[in-house]
Amino acid sequence: MKTAVIYFSYEGNCKLIAEQINASIPGDMVALQLEDAKTRKGMAKYLWGGRQVVLNRRPALKPYTFDSAAYDLLFIGTPVWAGSPAPALDTFLEQTRITGKQIALFCCCAGGKGKVFDKLRRSLSGNTFVGEMVFINPVKQDTGTLAATIRLWLEELSGQVVP
Ligand SMILES: Cc1cc2nc3c(=O)[nH]c(=O)nc-3n(C[C@H](O)[C@H](O)[C@H](O)COP(=O)(O)O)c2cc1C
Repeated sequence: MKTAVIYFSYEGNCKLIAEQINASIPGDMVALQLEDAKTRKGMAKYLWGGRQVVLNRRPALKPYTFDSAAYDLLFIGTPVWAGSPAPALDTFLEQTRITGKQIALFCCCAGGKGKVFDKLRRSLSGNTFVGEMVFINPVKQDTGTLAATIRLWLEELSGQVVP
């Protein structure tokens, strides 16, 4: 099966998960990156990001290459921002028509997934969802435990995915 892992990551957590998925299931990676590359920290970061969610912004992305026709299975991952997908995902999903694919969703958060999967499923209607997984700040987790969690999830998914 042709597989791609598409993700946005502001602070490295979703990137870590995407890389581990890609190491287990070889395929392409699409790292969505904001055109605005300014690094924000602390409260300014939460205010800036939260504001983007509340105002329903579609931030500009750096150019990326993705042709959904080339894939059967897509992993799509985002950090949770104010209970929602990071707006970079909204930009991507508006720019790219994805239908008829098998999709596994993942998110990284500090504590709660909020409405991330509900919103992504809505934006991605017309696809088949084969699984979803929440990771709590995986960068801070024990690497062995994290690897085992990902391995189990991928095993579980392999029972859901139609070859
Ligand atoms: C603007 C902003 C809003 C956030 N809102 C939430 C939230 O609502 N719930 C939560 O559990 N974590 C929230 N977080 C924490 C991130 O989801 C979490 O640290 C995640 O692992 C970051 O993923 P990344 O490193 O791939 O960017 C927020 C972080 C930022 C920057």
